Amino acid sequence: MKNATITGWGRCIPQPVVTNAELATVVDTSDEWITTRSGIKERHVSHVQNSDMATLAAKRALAAAGRKPEDLDYIVVATCTPDRQIPSTACYVQIKLGAMKAAASDINAGCTGFIYGLSMAQGLIATETAKTVLVIGSERITSYLNLDVRETAVLFGDGAGAVIVEATDEPVGVMSMILGADGGGAPSLTATGLGTEFIGTDADLAVIMDGSEVFKNAVVKMGECTVEATEKAGWTPEEIDLVVPHQANTRIIDAVRRRIRADDDKVYINIHKYGNTSAATIPIALSEALEEGRVAPGSKLIFVAFGAGFTWGGAAVKWGDRVTPINVIDDELPEPDMTGLEIMRARHLVFQS
Ligand code: ACO
Repeated sequence: MKNATITGWGRCIPQPVVTNAELATVVDTSDEWITTRSGIKERHVSHVQNSDMATLAAKRALAAAGRKPEDLDYIVVATCTPDRQIPSTACYVQIKLGAMKAAASDINAGCTGFIYGLSMAQGLIATETAKTVLVIGSERITSYLNLDVRETAVLFGDGAGAVIVEATDEPVGVMSMILGADGGGAPSLTATGLGTEFIGTDADLAVIMDGSEVFKNAVVKMGECTVEATEKAGWTPEEIDLVVPHQANTRIIDAVRRRIRADDDKVYINIHKYGNTSAATIPIALSEALEEGRVAPGSKLIFVAFGAGFTWGGAAVKWGDRVTPINVIDDELPEPDMTGLEIMRARHLVFQS
């Protein structure tokens, strides 16, 4: 059976930034509350469509892998904020990349989406249905935020991350995969105002969350997934070189770190810069960790996440030999013509009209 290894990585962070202090001018909150409760200092807000961010992250990942769009057999986009409900965001990415030999579909597993997408790539490769798979986590979740719902309006940000996953006979890549879900958790984290249930109603668009319920479940499940993925890979906790966790709250991440008795430097954290970018979080964090030299050839990595559904997942990934990109490209998103705060306010005013 073929192994599935990550050979390319990239991210796209939209330029507009909204700091906590700026957000506190339009939401009933404070920098102090957001920082102490979540660890977030600022977030990015997209001025382009989700598929535009996803496509740029994908181009960077393809360049890093030394691959061309026509090498792709499958494109999976993990997102809960698609450009449109029909068609999938993956189909927009396919045409924007010109990856005409690739099949394409989306996955919605909330913040766990990237790990679900990676498991799909692993399965496609193991069964030799595909040799080269593009897995993207991409979200424009600030578009769903209602500035009157302060419990969630301060927590999320936009961005995209992508990886190229390729078939190999070497003993590297995804070494174990743990996935789970509990639909009973649906009321604890949901979006209102979108979806067939709301057609013909005047429900406001908003992300609604029972924060403490999500927090408790996230701590338990992310801890369990980390331990189970490690054991299933045949590793001990001491062997883990870096945990790349979903970034929803530094206190959740710290609980995961304590569960495996790891030092701070074994856990990657970038939540202060981006907030919770849902399915985009892990591939964004992975590409930054690589750039910062936190991943070495042969590193033993754990990806772990928890999200809406509830869903959860953990993956043990043994890195290959290469930790630098083969190529880099200089494509950028267009310059925004509004500030991040102006974008958030403009969208909010549309909801209210
Ligand atoms: N600013 C100021 N005060 C606020 C804000 C805000 N933005 N939001 C809530 N508060 C208030 C509440 O009203 C409450 O006030 P009260 O004590 O007077 O009633 C108080 O702050 C405490 O609220 P809690 O919800 O108890 O705060 P908590 O310490 O639990 O932190 C948080 C909240 C950050 C949301 C935390 O519960 C959390 O991180 N939960 C998990 C999030 C998560 O993991 N999400 C992942 C999945 S996301 C996905 O799948 C798309």
